[in-house]
Amino acid sequence: MTTQRSQWASRIGFVLAASGSSIGLGNIWKFPYVAGKNGGGAFVLVYLLAILLVGIPIMMAEFYLGREGGKDAIGTFARLAGKRSPWCLVGWAGVAAAFILLSFYAVVAGWCFDYVLKSACGALTLVSAGEIASLFGELLSSPGQMIFWQTAFLLATGLIVSRGIQNGIERWSKIFMPILFLLLFYLFLHGLFSSGAAQAAHFLFFPDFTSLTSMGLLEAVGHAFFTLSLGAGVMITYGSYLDRQADLFSMAVKVTSLDTLVALLAGMAIFPVVFSAGLDPAAGPGLVFQTIPIVFSTAPMGGLLAILFFLLLAFAALSSSISMLEVTVAWLVDEKRWSRVKATSLLCCGAFILGLPSVFSFNLLQHWTPVGSLTFFDFCDRLVTSYMLPLGGLAVALYSGWFLKRSATQQLANLHCSASWVYPAWHFLIRYIAPMAVASVFIQQLMTS
Ligand code: TRP
Repeated sequence: MTTQRSQWASRIGFVLAASGSSIGLGNIWKFPYVAGKNGGGAFVLVYLLAILLVGIPIMMAEFYLGREGGKDAIGTFARLAGKRSPWCLVGWAGVAAAFILLSFYAVVAGWCFDYVLKSACGALTLVSAGEIASLFGELLSSPGQMIFWQTAFLLATGLIVSRGIQNGIERWSKIFMPILFLLLFYLFLHGLFSSGAAQAAHFLFFPDFTSLTSMGLLEAVGHAFFTLSLGAGVMITYGSYLDRQADLFSMAVKVTSLDTLVALLAGMAIFPVVFSAGLDPAAGPGLVFQTIPIVFSTAPMGGLLAILFFLLLAFAALSSSISMLEVTVAWLVDEKRWSRVKATSLLCCGAFILGLPSVFSFNLLQHWTPVGSLTFFDFCDRLVTSYMLPLGGLAVALYSGWFLKRSATQQLANLHCSASWVYPAWHFLIRYIAPMAVASVFIQQLMTS
């Protein structure tokens, strides 16, 4: 029996779902913070170059592989390279990376849910900085509360994914993403009119090349990579539901532009409030959960802004986790012929169990460091973001640049692609520039860890 494989109902639906995957916690807290640390505008320039020279070509390659393979990440490599080919390992690594990522992403995303409720109940309004810090500490030290929110988040992710491509992922992306843009724009305007706006713009955009180190250069490439959800089979899987007429170049440009726009807007929404309240811009993960509520606790309409802000974070996280789950669900549905509902339920339970040691990394097991000085949570994060994703991306670049026949990949340009320079440019970037850039990031990770 052959059943018709699902497809996106519309191109815009696909673009919103793929941008939903790329726009996540990485854009809203990580980008502004890493940019600031590495010299603001100088870093932003390098980051934009990395998006252009590495991000777009690899995203196009992933879309292409998925559309040609027409299957999940593992099945795609099996179909294109042969069942016994070592390239299938790339598919397996992608599915594994997406699954591990989901297990700990759900833990942090659970905090966003908790903060939506906290702000809606007014727990964050008119309380002192110390009280807000201890609220965060209380959450981290309570495994029960964290497990409750982790479960809620995984349930929401699972419910959406179980409904399928058009009725689940695409429909909800079409709801989440416009709300997210509106919320962010509102917070951006709020930031623009606050007293720290000029300082924030200077911090984020003034190119201070003296504080951009070679490490910062590599961090720009690494972040470009993470923020676009590359290297874990997400874009391969999403590409497999794409119709043959779609122009992959224009799709990749749209997705990366939206992702970059959100990162820049988020920076301009967060830093003005941080500066006008005299807080530390380099506070890292704590920035979102500790400093932002402090700012909102005193601002006019701060209660409402805080609800909006954490809703924004929760939506961004949800549309990213959907994509991680879909990579693994697609594998069970395509390769093992499982029903979507059964695959989703089992994988959500699996992600929940694997996520438990990550929950405990903040309380019961905070002194348990299975690898080096890293807690289980930090280890998962390091393993996936520093090793599995760059390696996955490198493999995609090498495979599509060196092992696929030109005559095959030429379709990228020949079919419905607007300009004649696109294919030669893509081929050059994917063969030489992208592998070199990703390899240098990877070597740097090896040397610093
Ligand atoms: N891009 C997301 C962010 O910026 C994270 C993410 C979602 C991701 N899916 C991914 C990263 C797959 C790598 C691979 O937060």
